Amino acid sequence: MLQIPLRKLAELKPQPTALDRFETASTDELRAWQRERLAWSLRHAYTNVPHYRAKFDAAGVHPDDFKTLSDLAKFPFTAKADLRDNYPFGMFAVPQSQVSRIHASSGTTGKPTVVGYTKADIDVWSDMVARSIRAAGGRPGMKVHIAYGYGLFTGGLGAHYGAERLGCTVIPMSGGMTERQVQLITDFKPDVIMVTPSYMLAILDEFRKQGLDPRQSSLRIGIFGAEPWTNAMREEIEEAFDLHAVDIYGLSEVMGPGVASECVETKDGLHVWEDHFYPEVIDPVTGEVLPDGEQGELVFTSLTKEAMPVIRYRTRDLTRLLPGTARALRRMEKVTGRTDDMMIIRGVNVFPTQIEEKLATIPVLSMHYLIVLSREGRMDEMQIQVEARPDATPEARKSAARQLEQSVKDTIGITARVDVLDPGAIERSLGKAKRIVDRRPKHD
Ligand code: DLL
Repeated sequence: MLQIPLRKLAELKPQPTALDRFETASTDELRAWQRERLAWSLRHAYTNVPHYRAKFDAAGVHPDDFKTLSDLAKFPFTAKADLRDNYPFGMFAVPQSQVSRIHASSGTTGKPTVVGYTKADIDVWSDMVARSIRAAGGRPGMKVHIAYGYGLFTGGLGAHYGAERLGCTVIPMSGGMTERQVQLITDFKPDVIMVTPSYMLAILDEFRKQGLDPRQSSLRIGIFGAEPWTNAMREEIEEAFDLHAVDIYGLSEVMGPGVASECVETKDGLHVWEDHFYPEVIDPVTGEVLPDGEQGELVFTSLTKEAMPVIRYRTRDLTRLLPGTARALRRMEKVTGRTDDMMIIRGVNVFPTQIEEKLATIPVLSMHYLIVLSREGRMDEMQIQVEARPDATPEARKSAARQLEQSVKDTIGITARVDVLDPGAIERSLGKAKRIVDRRPKHD
Protein backbone atom coordinates (compact mmCIF):
# COMPACT_ATOMS: atom_id res chain seq x y z
CA MET A 1 0.00 0.00 0.00
CA LEU A 2 1.10 3.48 -0.76
CA GLN A 3 2.20 5.35 2.31
CA ILE A 4 1.19 8.98 2.39
CA PRO A 5 4.33 11.08 1.90
CA LEU A 6 5.38 12.64 5.18
CA ARG A 7 6.17 15.95 3.55
CA LYS A 8 3.27 18.25 4.15
CA LEU A 9 1.48 19.72 1.16
CA ALA A 10 0.30 22.84 2.91
CA GLU A 11 3.80 24.23 3.11
CA LEU A 12 4.44 23.62 -0.61
CA LYS A 13 1.32 25.25 -2.06
CA PRO A 14 2.20 28.81 -3.10
CA GLN A 15 0.42 31.77 -1.56
CA PRO A 16 -2.01 33.36 -4.07
CA THR A 17 0.01 36.58 -3.89
CA ALA A 18 3.08 34.74 -5.23
CA LEU A 19 1.36 33.89 -8.52
CA ASP A 20 1.78 35.70 -11.87
CA ARG A 21 -1.02 37.77 -13.30
CA PHE A 22 -2.15 35.16 -15.82
CA GLU A 23 -2.21 32.30 -13.33
CA THR A 24 -5.25 33.92 -11.75
CA ALA A 25 -6.63 35.90 -14.72
CA SER A 26 -10.23 35.67 -15.87
CA THR A 27 -10.89 33.71 -19.06
CA ASP A 28 -11.94 36.92 -20.83
CA GLU A 29 -8.73 38.67 -19.89
CA LEU A 30 -6.67 35.67 -21.03
CA ARG A 31 -8.52 35.27 -24.35
CA ALA A 32 -8.13 38.98 -25.10
CA TRP A 33 -4.38 38.76 -24.48
CA GLN A 34 -4.12 35.62 -26.61
CA ARG A 35 -6.01 37.26 -29.48
CA GLU A 36 -3.75 40.27 -29.42
CA ARG A 37 -0.55 38.23 -29.14
CA LEU A 38 -1.59 35.71 -31.82
CA ALA A 39 -2.19 38.57 -34.25
CA TRP A 40 1.32 39.81 -33.49
CA SER A 41 2.88 36.35 -33.79
CA LEU A 42 1.22 35.52 -37.14
CA ARG A 43 2.35 38.84 -38.55
CA HIS A 44 5.86 38.45 -37.14
CA ALA A 45 6.21 34.99 -38.73
CA TYR A 46 4.73 36.11 -42.06
CA THR A 47 6.87 39.22 -42.33
CA ASN A 48 10.18 37.72 -41.22
CA VAL A 49 10.24 34.03 -42.16
CA PRO A 50 10.07 33.27 -45.91
CA HIS A 51 8.84 29.75 -45.15
CA TYR A 52 5.73 31.05 -43.34
CA ARG A 53 5.07 33.67 -45.99
CA ALA A 54 5.16 31.02 -48.74
CA LYS A 55 2.97 28.64 -46.75
CA PHE A 56 0.37 31.26 -45.80
CA ASP A 57 0.28 32.52 -49.40
CA ALA A 58 -0.15 28.99 -50.76
CA ALA A 59 -3.02 28.42 -48.32
CA GLY A 60 -4.58 31.74 -49.31
CA VAL A 61 -4.44 33.23 -45.81
CA HIS A 62 -2.93 36.44 -44.55
CA PRO A 63 -2.34 37.62 -40.95
CA ASP A 64 -5.10 40.21 -41.59
CA ASP A 65 -7.58 37.31 -41.79
CA PHE A 66 -7.04 36.62 -38.12
CA LYS A 67 -9.77 38.42 -36.19
CA THR A 68 -10.98 35.98 -33.56
CA LEU A 69 -9.30 32.98 -31.92
CA SER A 70 -11.25 30.52 -34.09
CA ASP A 71 -9.62 32.09 -37.20
CA LEU A 72 -6.39 30.38 -36.22
CA ALA A 73 -7.78 27.17 -37.76
CA LYS A 74 -7.45 28.80 -41.21
CA PHE A 75 -3.67 28.87 -40.93
CA PRO A 76 -1.48 25.97 -42.08
CA PHE A 77 0.20 23.57 -39.66
CA THR A 78 3.94 23.41 -39.11
CA ALA A 79 5.64 20.02 -38.79
CA LYS A 80 9.08 18.83 -37.77
CA ALA A 81 9.84 18.34 -41.49
CA ASP A 82 9.43 22.09 -42.05
CA LEU A 83 12.18 22.74 -39.50
CA ARG A 84 14.41 20.10 -41.08
CA ASP A 85 13.84 21.52 -44.57
CA ASN A 86 14.97 24.91 -43.31
CA TYR A 87 18.03 23.56 -41.49
CA PRO A 88 19.85 25.14 -39.78
CA PHE A 89 18.57 28.72 -39.36
CA GLY A 90 15.88 29.15 -42.02
CA MET A 91 13.02 29.40 -39.51
CA PHE A 92 14.59 32.27 -37.58
CA ALA A 93 12.69 35.56 -37.66
CA VAL A 94 15.48 37.82 -36.41
CA PRO A 95 19.03 38.49 -37.64
CA GLN A 96 21.56 36.05 -36.26
CA SER A 97 23.19 38.82 -34.22
CA GLN A 98 20.03 38.99 -32.09
CA VAL A 99 20.00 35.25 -31.39
CA SER A 100 21.52 34.78 -27.98
CA ARG A 101 21.27 30.99 -27.76
CA ILE A 102 20.79 27.91 -29.94
CA HIS A 103 19.53 24.49 -28.92
CA ALA A 104 18.96 21.42 -31.05
CA SER A 105 17.12 18.17 -30.62
CA SER A 106 19.08 15.10 -31.54
CA GLY A 107 17.43 13.72 -34.61
CA THR A 108 17.73 9.94 -34.45
CA THR A 109 17.58 10.00 -38.22
CA GLY A 110 18.73 12.84 -40.44
CA LYS A 111 19.44 16.35 -39.38
CA PRO A 112 18.75 17.71 -35.91
CA THR A 113 16.05 20.31 -35.38
CA VAL A 114 17.60 23.64 -34.55
CA VAL A 115 15.91 26.32 -32.44
CA GLY A 116 17.00 29.83 -31.45
CA TYR A 117 16.19 32.33 -28.70
CA THR A 118 16.61 36.06 -28.31
CA LYS A 119 17.45 37.50 -24.89
CA ALA A 120 13.75 38.24 -24.40
CA ASP A 121 12.88 34.63 -25.32
CA ILE A 122 15.32 33.31 -22.73
CA ASP A 123 13.69 35.65 -20.21
CA VAL A 124 10.20 34.30 -20.91
CA TRP A 125 11.51 30.73 -20.82
CA SER A 126 13.19 31.35 -17.45
CA ASP A 127 9.95 32.86 -16.12
CA MET A 128 7.94 29.85 -17.28
CA VAL A 129 10.32 27.34 -15.71
CA ALA A 130 10.40 29.42 -12.51
CA ARG A 131 6.59 29.36 -12.54
CA SER A 132 6.69 25.58 -13.05
CA ILE A 133 9.08 25.03 -10.14
CA ARG A 134 6.92 27.22 -7.92
CA ALA A 135 3.82 25.25 -8.99
CA ALA A 136 5.70 22.12 -7.90
CA GLY A 137 6.25 23.63 -4.45
CA GLY A 138 9.69 25.12 -5.06
CA ARG A 139 10.62 28.37 -3.30
CA PRO A 140 13.43 30.91 -3.44
CA GLY A 141 16.33 29.67 -1.37
CA MET A 142 15.71 25.99 -1.99
CA LYS A 143 18.48 23.88 -3.48
CA VAL A 144 17.67 22.39 -6.88
CA HIS A 145 19.61 19.41 -8.20
CA ILE A 146 19.38 19.35 -12.00
CA ALA A 147 20.06 15.97 -13.59
CA TYR A 148 18.58 16.73 -17.00
CA GLY A 149 21.36 16.73 -19.57
CA TYR A 150 23.13 20.03 -20.20
CA GLY A 151 24.12 20.99 -23.74
CA LEU A 152 22.08 21.21 -26.91
CA PHE A 153 19.19 19.40 -25.17
CA THR A 154 16.89 22.03 -23.64
CA GLY A 155 16.37 20.12 -20.36
CA GLY A 156 19.48 21.07 -18.38
CA LEU A 157 19.90 24.75 -19.28
CA GLY A 158 16.14 25.35 -19.38
CA ALA A 159 15.72 24.03 -15.83
CA HIS A 160 18.88 25.84 -14.72
CA TYR A 161 17.80 29.32 -15.81
CA GLY A 162 14.32 28.79 -14.36
CA ALA A 163 15.64 27.68 -10.98
CA GLU A 164 18.00 30.65 -10.89
CA ARG A 165 15.16 32.98 -11.87
CA LEU A 166 13.08 31.72 -8.95
CA GLY A 167 15.98 32.46 -6.61
CA CYS A 168 17.04 28.89 -5.92
CA THR A 169 20.54 27.53 -5.37
CA VAL A 170 21.29 25.50 -8.49
CA ILE A 171 23.33 22.32 -8.55
CA PRO A 172 24.06 21.80 -12.27
CA MET A 173 24.82 18.08 -12.13
CA SER A 174 23.60 17.09 -15.64
CA GLY A 175 22.84 13.44 -16.48
CA GLY A 176 25.06 10.42 -15.87
CA MET A 177 27.61 9.41 -13.23
CA THR A 178 24.86 7.86 -11.15
CA GLU A 179 27.06 7.12 -8.12
CA ARG A 180 28.05 10.77 -8.06
CA GLN A 181 24.41 11.85 -8.29
CA VAL A 182 23.69 9.93 -5.09
CA GLN A 183 26.78 11.28 -3.36
CA LEU A 184 25.87 14.89 -4.16
CA ILE A 185 22.24 14.41 -3.17
CA THR A 186 23.45 12.99 0.15
CA ASP A 187 26.07 15.67 0.76
CA PHE A 188 24.48 18.83 -0.70
CA LYS A 189 20.98 17.99 0.55
CA PRO A 190 18.88 19.46 -2.27
CA ASP A 191 15.14 20.06 -1.72
CA VAL A 192 14.21 19.63 -5.38
CA ILE A 193 15.37 17.30 -8.15
CA MET A 194 14.69 17.83 -11.86
CA VAL A 195 15.35 14.75 -13.99
CA THR A 196 13.63 12.31 -16.34
CA PRO A 197 11.45 9.87 -14.38
CA SER A 198 13.27 6.87 -15.86
CA TYR A 199 16.65 8.19 -14.73
CA MET A 200 15.18 8.89 -11.29
CA LEU A 201 14.56 5.14 -11.06
CA ALA A 202 18.22 4.53 -11.88
CA ILE A 203 19.18 6.96 -9.08
CA LEU A 204 16.82 5.07 -6.78
CA ASP A 205 18.54 1.77 -7.60
CA GLU A 206 21.88 3.38 -6.82
CA PHE A 207 20.64 4.61 -3.41
CA ARG A 208 19.69 1.05 -2.57
CA LYS A 209 22.92 -0.37 -3.98
CA GLN A 210 24.86 1.91 -1.64
CA GLY A 211 22.72 0.76 1.28
CA LEU A 212 21.14 4.20 1.73
CA ASP A 213 17.50 4.75 2.57
CA PRO A 214 16.10 7.05 -0.14
CA ARG A 215 13.26 8.10 2.20
CA GLN A 216 15.89 9.69 4.44
CA SER A 217 17.19 11.88 1.60
CA SER A 218 16.61 15.62 1.72
CA LEU A 219 14.52 15.59 -1.48
CA ARG A 220 11.00 16.93 -1.03
CA ILE A 221 9.99 17.65 -4.61
CA GLY A 222 10.69 15.92 -7.93
CA ILE A 223 9.92 17.63 -11.24
CA PHE A 224 9.90 14.94 -13.89
CA GLY A 225 9.37 15.11 -17.63
CA ALA A 226 10.85 14.87 -21.13
CA GLU A 227 9.23 11.45 -21.65
CA PRO A 228 5.85 9.82 -21.06
CA TRP A 229 5.38 8.31 -17.59
CA THR A 230 2.40 6.94 -15.73
CA ASN A 231 0.74 7.76 -12.42
CA ALA A 232 1.89 4.30 -11.35
CA MET A 233 5.47 5.44 -11.75
CA ARG A 234 4.65 8.61 -9.83
CA GLU A 235 3.46 6.49 -6.89
CA GLU A 236 6.56 4.32 -7.08
CA ILE A 237 8.89 7.34 -6.90
CA GLU A 238 6.85 9.23 -4.26
CA GLU A 239 6.73 6.19 -2.04
CA ALA A 240 10.40 5.32 -2.47
CA PHE A 241 11.74 8.83 -1.77
CA ASP A 242 8.93 10.29 0.32
CA LEU A 243 8.67 13.26 -2.01
CA HIS A 244 6.04 14.96 -4.15
CA ALA A 245 6.41 14.14 -7.84
CA VAL A 246 4.97 16.41 -10.51
CA ASP A 247 5.02 16.35 -14.29
CA ILE A 248 6.67 18.99 -16.49
CA TYR A 249 6.17 19.10 -20.24
CA GLY A 250 7.83 20.88 -23.08
CA LEU A 251 9.52 20.51 -26.43
CA SER A 252 12.44 22.28 -28.04
CA GLU A 253 10.47 23.49 -31.07
CA VAL A 254 8.09 25.40 -28.81
CA MET A 255 10.69 26.36 -26.19
CA GLY A 256 11.92 23.50 -23.98
CA PRO A 257 10.75 22.41 -20.51
CA GLY A 258 8.08 24.62 -18.94
CA VAL A 259 5.43 24.80 -21.67
CA ALA A 260 3.07 23.15 -19.18
CA SER A 261 3.50 21.92 -15.64
CA GLU A 262 1.62 20.28 -12.83
CA CYS A 263 0.63 21.91 -9.54
CA VAL A 264 1.65 20.04 -6.41
CA GLU A 265 -1.63 20.69 -4.61
CA THR A 266 -3.73 18.90 -7.25
CA LYS A 267 -1.43 16.68 -9.39
CA ASP A 268 -4.25 16.42 -11.88
CA GLY A 269 -2.59 17.14 -15.21
CA LEU A 270 -0.41 19.97 -16.44
CA HIS A 271 -1.48 23.58 -16.57
CA VAL A 272 -0.53 24.92 -19.97
CA TRP A 273 1.22 28.26 -19.67
CA GLU A 274 -1.16 29.49 -22.34
CA ASP A 275 -0.32 33.14 -21.85
CA HIS A 276 2.74 32.28 -24.00
CA PHE A 277 1.82 29.06 -25.85
CA TYR A 278 -1.62 28.73 -27.42
CA PRO A 279 -2.77 25.10 -27.41
CA GLU A 280 -5.14 23.32 -29.79
CA VAL A 281 -5.98 19.63 -29.98
CA ILE A 282 -6.65 18.25 -33.43
CA ASP A 283 -7.71 15.01 -35.02
CA PRO A 284 -4.32 13.67 -36.15
CA VAL A 285 -5.79 12.25 -39.35
CA THR A 286 -8.11 15.00 -40.58
CA GLY A 287 -6.41 17.99 -38.92
CA GLU A 288 -9.78 19.20 -37.63
CA VAL A 289 -9.72 21.15 -34.35
CA LEU A 290 -11.38 19.17 -31.57
CA PRO A 291 -13.35 20.68 -28.69
CA ASP A 292 -11.74 20.77 -25.24
CA GLY A 293 -12.08 17.42 -23.50
CA GLU A 294 -11.50 15.32 -26.63
CA GLN A 295 -8.31 13.41 -27.14
CA GLY A 296 -6.09 14.13 -30.10
CA GLU A 297 -2.76 15.60 -31.17
CA LEU A 298 -1.53 18.66 -29.33
CA VAL A 299 -0.67 21.69 -31.47
CA PHE A 300 1.03 24.88 -30.26
CA THR A 301 1.35 28.42 -31.55
CA SER A 302 3.84 30.66 -29.78
CA LEU A 303 2.44 34.00 -28.67
CA THR A 304 5.56 35.92 -27.72
CA LYS A 305 8.58 34.15 -29.21
CA GLU A 306 10.84 36.45 -31.19
CA ALA A 307 13.71 34.38 -32.60
CA MET A 308 11.71 31.40 -33.82
CA PRO A 309 7.95 31.81 -33.79
CA VAL A 310 6.05 28.56 -34.36
CA ILE A 311 2.63 28.59 -35.93
CA ARG A 312 0.35 25.61 -35.27
CA TYR A 313 3.25 23.25 -34.57
CA ARG A 314 2.16 19.62 -34.56
CA THR A 315 3.77 18.05 -31.50
CA ARG A 316 2.65 14.43 -32.26
CA ASP A 317 1.86 14.17 -28.55
CA LEU A 318 -1.55 12.81 -27.64
CA THR A 319 -3.59 14.43 -24.89
CA ARG A 320 -6.73 16.45 -24.23
CA LEU A 321 -7.39 19.93 -22.90
CA LEU A 322 -9.26 20.29 -19.63
CA PRO A 323 -10.47 23.29 -17.62
CA GLY A 324 -8.14 24.86 -15.07
CA THR A 325 -8.20 23.77 -11.42
CA ALA A 326 -5.33 25.00 -9.25
CA ARG A 327 -4.74 27.78 -11.82
CA ALA A 328 -6.97 29.71 -14.20
CA LEU A 329 -5.11 28.34 -17.22
CA ARG A 330 -6.31 25.18 -18.97
CA ARG A 331 -4.75 21.82 -18.23
CA MET A 332 -3.53 19.12 -20.55
CA GLU A 333 -3.90 15.53 -19.46
CA LYS A 334 -0.67 13.62 -18.84
CA VAL A 335 0.70 12.70 -22.28
CA THR A 336 0.03 9.02 -22.85
CA GLY A 337 2.27 8.74 -25.89
CA ARG A 338 3.35 10.14 -29.20
CA THR A 339 1.79 9.25 -32.50
CA ASP A 340 5.26 7.97 -33.52
CA ASP A 341 5.47 5.67 -30.47
CA MET A 342 2.20 4.00 -31.23
CA MET A 343 2.83 0.35 -31.95
CA ILE A 344 0.36 -1.37 -34.21
CA ILE A 345 0.43 -5.02 -33.27
CA ARG A 346 -1.81 -7.17 -35.38
CA GLY A 347 -4.15 -4.27 -35.90
CA VAL A 348 -4.26 -3.17 -32.24
CA ASN A 349 -2.84 0.25 -31.28
CA VAL A 350 -0.64 0.13 -28.18
CA PHE A 351 1.52 2.66 -26.34
CA PRO A 352 4.37 1.74 -23.98
CA THR A 353 2.58 3.56 -21.12
CA GLN A 354 -0.27 1.03 -21.36
CA ILE A 355 2.22 -1.77 -20.75
CA GLU A 356 3.80 0.26 -17.92
CA GLU A 357 0.42 0.61 -16.20
CA LYS A 358 -0.10 -3.15 -16.33
CA LEU A 359 3.31 -4.19 -15.05
CA ALA A 360 3.07 -1.67 -12.21
CA THR A 361 0.24 -3.71 -10.72
CA ILE A 362 2.45 -6.78 -10.28
CA PRO A 363 4.62 -6.36 -7.17
CA VAL A 364 7.36 -8.80 -8.28
CA LEU A 365 8.12 -6.66 -11.34
CA SER A 366 10.20 -3.49 -11.35
CA MET A 367 9.49 -0.55 -13.64
CA HIS A 368 12.54 -1.12 -15.83
CA TYR A 369 11.19 -2.52 -19.09
CA LEU A 370 11.71 -2.72 -22.81
CA ILE A 371 9.36 -3.75 -25.59
CA VAL A 372 10.91 -5.69 -28.47
CA LEU A 373 8.95 -5.97 -31.70
CA SER A 374 9.77 -8.53 -34.35
CA ARG A 375 8.04 -10.25 -37.21
CA GLU A 376 7.65 -13.97 -37.70
CA GLY A 377 6.41 -14.52 -41.25
CA ARG A 378 3.57 -12.03 -41.57
CA MET A 379 2.83 -11.86 -37.86
CA ASP A 380 4.05 -9.10 -35.54
CA GLU A 381 5.42 -10.39 -32.26
CA MET A 382 5.73 -8.40 -29.04
CA GLN A 383 8.14 -9.37 -26.32
CA ILE A 384 8.09 -7.49 -23.04
CA GLN A 385 11.35 -7.59 -21.15
CA VAL A 386 10.97 -6.50 -17.56
CA GLU A 387 13.29 -6.73 -14.59
CA ALA A 388 12.30 -8.57 -11.44
CA ARG A 389 12.61 -6.86 -8.07
CA PRO A 390 15.77 -8.00 -6.29
CA ASP A 391 14.14 -10.39 -3.81
CA ALA A 392 11.84 -12.22 -6.25
CA THR A 393 12.06 -16.02 -6.25
CA PRO A 394 12.22 -17.96 -9.55
CA GLU A 395 8.64 -19.19 -9.01
CA ALA A 396 7.37 -15.69 -8.32
CA ARG A 397 9.08 -14.44 -11.48
CA LYS A 398 7.51 -17.16 -13.56
CA SER A 399 4.05 -16.50 -12.25
CA ALA A 400 4.50 -12.72 -12.67
CA ALA A 401 5.37 -13.29 -16.33
CA ARG A 402 2.17 -15.31 -16.88
CA GLN A 403 0.16 -12.72 -14.95
CA LEU A 404 1.42 -9.86 -17.14
CA GLU A 405 0.82 -11.84 -20.33
CA GLN A 406 -2.73 -12.47 -19.19
CA SER A 407 -3.45 -8.89 -18.20
CA VAL A 408 -2.03 -7.52 -21.48
CA LYS A 409 -4.22 -9.97 -23.36
CA ASP A 410 -7.34 -9.29 -21.32
CA THR A 411 -7.14 -5.51 -21.24
CA ILE A 412 -5.17 -4.45 -24.32
CA GLY A 413 -6.12 -7.39 -26.48
CA ILE A 414 -2.75 -8.57 -27.70
CA THR A 415 -0.67 -11.64 -27.12
CA ALA A 416 2.77 -10.71 -25.86
CA ARG A 417 5.61 -12.83 -24.53
CA VAL A 418 6.91 -11.65 -21.19
CA ASP A 419 10.47 -12.34 -20.09
CA VAL A 420 11.33 -11.46 -16.52
CA LEU A 421 15.02 -10.60 -16.33
CA ASP A 422 17.49 -10.18 -13.50
CA PRO A 423 17.69 -6.79 -11.80
CA GLY A 424 20.03 -4.54 -13.79
CA ALA A 425 19.69 -6.50 -17.05
CA ILE A 426 18.05 -3.68 -18.99
CA GLU A 427 20.33 -0.88 -20.04
CA ARG A 428 19.65 2.35 -18.12
CA SER A 429 19.32 5.54 -20.06
CA LEU A 430 20.79 8.72 -18.64
CA GLY A 431 18.00 10.83 -20.07
CA LYS A 432 14.96 9.76 -22.01
CA ALA A 433 14.35 6.02 -21.71
CA LYS A 434 14.16 3.95 -24.84
CA ARG A 435 11.08 1.78 -24.49
CA ILE A 436 10.77 0.18 -27.92
CA VAL A 437 13.23 -1.81 -30.01
CA ASP A 438 11.65 -2.47 -33.38
CA ARG A 439 13.30 -5.37 -35.18
CA ARG A 440 10.57 -5.66 -37.78
CA PRO A 441 11.76 -5.30 -41.39
CA LYS A 442 11.28 -1.70 -42.55
CA HIS A 443 9.58 -2.65 -45.83
CA ASP A 444 7.34 -5.55 -46.61
O1 DLL B 1 12.14 16.91 -23.76
C1 DLL B 1 12.03 19.24 -23.20
C2 DLL B 1 11.90 18.87 -21.76
C3 DLL B 1 13.04 18.77 -20.97
C4 DLL B 1 10.65 18.70 -21.19
C5 DLL B 1 12.93 18.47 -19.63
C6 DLL B 1 10.53 18.40 -19.84
C7 DLL B 1 11.66 18.28 -19.06
P1 DLL B 1 12.54 17.51 -26.67
O2 DLL B 1 13.81 16.78 -26.50
O3 DLL B 1 12.38 18.39 -27.87
O4 DLL B 1 12.28 18.46 -25.45
O5 DLL B 1 11.39 16.44 -26.65
C8 DLL B 1 10.04 16.83 -26.67
O6 DLL B 1 9.40 14.89 -25.37
O7 DLL B 1 7.16 16.26 -27.79
C9 DLL B 1 7.11 14.75 -25.87
O8 DLL B 1 6.95 13.71 -26.80
C10 DLL B 1 8.19 14.36 -24.88
N1 DLL B 1 7.88 14.94 -23.56
C11 DLL B 1 8.40 16.04 -22.99
N2 DLL B 1 7.89 16.21 -21.74
C12 DLL B 1 6.99 15.21 -21.55
C13 DLL B 1 6.13 14.83 -20.48
C14 DLL B 1 12.14 18.07 -24.14
N3 DLL B 1 6.09 15.50 -19.34
C15 DLL B 1 9.17 15.62 -26.59
N4 DLL B 1 5.34 13.75 -20.66
C16 DLL B 1 7.69 15.99 -26.52
C17 DLL B 1 5.38 13.05 -21.82
C18 DLL B 1 6.98 14.41 -22.72
N5 DLL B 1 6.19 13.34 -22.83
